[in-house]
Amino acid sequence: MKKYAVVVSLAMVASASLWADAGEGALRAAIPEIFTKSAAHYKALDAAATARMDRGTVGTKLLPYSYNRSKGELDMRDVSWWTSGHYPGALWYLYEATGDKFFKERAIVWTELLEPHRSNSTHHDTGFLMYCSYGNARRILKTDRYDAILFETAGSLAKRFSEDLGLIRSWGQIGDKTNFLVIPDNMMNLELLEWAAKHPCKSFEDACGKADFYDKVARSHASVTMKHHFRKDGGTYHVLNYDQRPGFLGVVQEIRRGQGLSCETAWSRGQSWAIYGYTMMYRETGDRSYLEFAQKVSDFAINNPNMPEDGVPFWDYGAPGEERDSSAAAVMACGLLELSGHVGGEKGASYRAFAVKQLASLASPAYFSEGDEVGHWLLKHSVAHKPGGEEVDVPLNYADYYFLEALLRLKNME
Ligand code: GLY
Repeated sequence: MKKYAVVVSLAMVASASLWADAGEGALRAAIPEIFTKSAAHYKALDAAATARMDRGTVGTKLLPYSYNRSKGELDMRDVSWWTSGHYPGALWYLYEATGDKFFKERAIVWTELLEPHRSNSTHHDTGFLMYCSYGNARRILKTDRYDAILFETAGSLAKRFSEDLGLIRSWGQIGDKTNFLVIPDNMMNLELLEWAAKHPCKSFEDACGKADFYDKVARSHASVTMKHHFRKDGGTYHVLNYDQRPGFLGVVQEIRRGQGLSCETAWSRGQSWAIYGYTMMYRETGDRSYLEFAQKVSDFAINNPNMPEDGVPFWDYGAPGEERDSSAAAVMACGLLELSGHVGGEKGASYRAFAVKQLASLASPAYFSEGDEVGHWLLKHSVAHKPGGEEVDVPLNYADYYFLEALLRLKNME
C-alpha cells in the first residue's frame, strides 16, 4: 500500500495536469519527497554560494540571489540587497521541513551576516531582511537570543513612518519633502512591527516600551494603503507618490509603473504581496476590514481573465502570453492557504483549492528544476523587474522561500 502511494506521487511529479486533477491528497502525500529533493538542491547550492561569499568588491559578504545563465553561475548579491534575508530564511524552512542539522548550521551562518541591518532605516526592506532570517531563527530555535536585534530592527523600520500621512515611506530618504513613495510590498514588513508590538521587550532600551506605537504604525499603514493603493476592481498600483504639502497632504500626486507593465495594470507580485499582507494583518489585529480586503485582492487575481489555467500568473495581469512569475504564485499560495482558514466554508475551501493548484504546478517539472539546470535553485521562471530588464525568467531566492513556506503551511493544516 505504502509502495503504491510512492509510485503515485512520483507520477504526479511528472505531470502538472495530473497534480491538479489528483487534488490536495496527492500533493500532501508528495510533500516529503518535494522536501527531500529541495534539500539535495540546497546542499549543492550552498556549497557553490559558500565558495563565493567572500568575493564582494567592497569587502562585504555576498549572498545567493538568482542564477546567471550566460555565465553559468549563481548570481550573488551584496548583503545589503533587499532579498538577502530570504536565502537564510529558505535554509531555516528546510531545517524545519527535514530536521537536518546541516540546514540549521548554515542558516545561522548566513543569518548572522545580516546583523548590521538592525539599525538600517534606509528602506522598508529591512523587514524582509531581518524577519525572514532572524524572525524564523527565533521561531524555529525557540530562542530569545535574537530579540534585541528584532526589536531594534522594528524601531529602525518605524522611523520611516510619517504621522502626517499615516504611512511608512517604502523608498527614499526620510525627510524628502518632494517624494513620499509607497509600494504594496511594504505590507509584508508590517508583520515585524506586529511581532514587536506583542512580545515582551526586555533588553533593548531604545526600541522597548513602544508596543502601542508599532501596532498603530502597522494598522495605519495598512488602512491608508487600502484606501489609495488599489483600483475599484481590487487590482494594485505599484508605486504611489504622496503629496506632503499642507493643503494637499495625503493626496496621491503621482502613480508610477514601477516593476509593473503600466500604471493601469496590476503587477502580479505586488498583488500577491497584498493578498499575503492583508491576510496577515487580519491574523495580527482581528480587524475584519483587512479580512474583507484580503478577499477582494485575492478574488481579483483568481478570477482575472488573464490568470493561466495552472494558477501561475504572468508577470503582470496585463501581460498575457509573456513570462510567468513563479514568485508571485508562491507568495499568493501562502496567503490563500492562510486566508482559507480565516474565511472558512465554501469560499475558504475555494481559496485553499486554488493554492493547492498553484503549489502542484510549481512542484511539477514545468517549474521545479531538475539537477543543476538553474544552479540548484528550486523554482524556475520568476521575474524580478521586467521594465528594468532585470532578472527576467530566472530563479529567485524569494520564490523558493515562499514556495517552502507554503508547503510547510499546507503540511501543518488540518
Ligand atoms: N520590491 C520587492 C519585489 O520586487 O517584489
